[in-house]
Amino acid sequence: MLSILLFLAALASSVAANCAYGTSAFPRLPNVTVSTFGYDALKGPLNWFGLNKTANFACEEGSHQSPIVINSTIATVDGSTLTWTVQDYPDGAEFENLGTNVEVIVNGSLVDSNSGVEYSLAQFHFHTPAEHRVNDEFFPMEMHWVFESTGISRSPSLLRLNERTDAFRAAKQFAVVSFLVELCEAPGCTDQVLRAVFEAVEDIAQPGEATMTGPLAFGELTAKFENSPVYSTELLYIDLPTWLAVRKVIKYNARYTQDVLGGVNLLQNAADELCNGTSR
Ligand SMILES: *[C@@H]1O[C@H](CO)[C@@H](O)[C@H](O)[C@H]1NC(C)=O
Ligand SMILES: *[C@@H]1O[C@H](CO)[C@@H](O)[C@H](O)[C@H]1NC(C)=O
Ligand SMILES: *[C@@H]1O[C@H](CO)[C@@H](O)[C@H](O)[C@H]1NC(C)=O
Ligand SMILES: *[C@@H]1O[C@H](CO)[C@@H](O)[C@H](O)[C@H]1NC(C)=O
Ligand SMILES: *[C@@H]1O[C@H](CO)[C@@H](O)[C@H](O)[C@H]1NC(C)=O
Repeated sequence: MLSILLFLAALASSVAANCAYGTSAFPRLPNVTVSTFGYDALKGPLNWFGLNKTANFACEEGSHQSPIVINSTIATVDGSTLTWTVQDYPDGAEFENLGTNVEVIVNGSLVDSNSGVEYSLAQFHFHTPAEHRVNDEFFPMEMHWVFESTGISRSPSLLRLNERTDAFRAAKQFAVVSFLVELCEAPGCTDQVLRAVFEAVEDIAQPGEATMTGPLAFGELTAKFENSPVYSTELLYIDLPTWLAVRKVIKYNARYTQDVLGGVNLLQNAADELCNGTSR
C-alpha cells in the first residue's frame, strides 16, 4: 500500500481550485471566507471550470489533474531528496472551516534537491473520503500540505502557460504532500497530529468559523516522510469516533478520480463526445 504522495507541478497542469487556497492564486482574506465552489450539483467538480474559467481553466484542459489512482506504474523519488520543515505550535494554530474544507495555518517549507526549487507552506487541509486511491481502493481521509514556490520558474512548459493566465501565477509552482489516513480501533490509536488538530473540530462546525487546534508537534510526521520513498507504505491512523466527528463537519469533499497522467482531460473528453454526437 502507498500513502505519502507528492505532487510537484505548475498550477495550471495539476493543482485544482480546492487545493490552492491561501496561495497567491487563491489568496486568504483576513476573515475566514467561505468557498464559492463546492462538491454538489452546479458548484461541484464537474462545473468548477464553469464557475471561474480564468482561475479554473486547468479543470477542463489539464492532462495532469489530481486525484488519480496510484499503482506501481506511478514513478517514485527518494524521500531523502526532499527536505520538509514545519514549525511546532505548542499553543496550537488557527483552524478554519471554509465550507469546502477544514484547514490549519502553519509555517513551513519544502526544498526539492533534485530541481533546487524551494517552497513555502500555505496551509494543510483534509478530505473525507480520501481523493487519491491506491490500486483502485479508497481511504476514509486524506491530509494535504499545500506548498507554493518562493522563486519563479523559467521552464519552457511553464512559460507556455502564460498564454492562458497571468505571468506571475503561471510561473509559480505548487507542491502538495499528501497522507492517506486509515481507520484504527484501539483506544488512543489516532496519530498525535490528527488528535491535536481535531480535538477542536466541533468548535468550527459551521462554515466561516475558526478556532485554535491543540498543541502541534510535527516531528513524527516529517520523519515518516523523510525516511520513505515518496510513494510509501506509511499510513496515518484515526479512530472511528474522531473520524465520525470530522466527517460531520467536512462532509463530502472528494473530487472525482481523474484520467491517467498525460491522458485526455475527462471533462474535455465528455464535451467532445457530446459535441461529436450526430444522432441528435
Ligand atoms: C472580520 O470580522 C470581524 C467580526 O465580524 C469584523 O469586525 C472585521 O471588520 C472583519 N475584518 C475584515 C478585514 O473584514
Ligand atoms: C476568478 O478568479 C480570479 C483569480 O482568482 C479572480 O480574480 C476573479 O475575480 C474570479 N472571477 C469570478 C467570476 O469569481
Ligand atoms: C495502473 O492504473 C492505471 C490507471 O487506472 C491502469 O490503466 C493500469 O492498468 C494500472 N496498472 C497496474 C499494474 O495496476
Ligand atoms: C509565518 O511567518 C510569518 C513571517 O515570519 C509571520 O508573519 C506569520 O505570523 C507566521 N504565521 C504563522 C501561522 O506562524
Ligand atoms: C471529436 O471530434 C474531434 C474533431 O473531429 C476529434 O479530434 C476528437 O478526437 C473527437 N473526440 C471524440 C471523443 O470523439
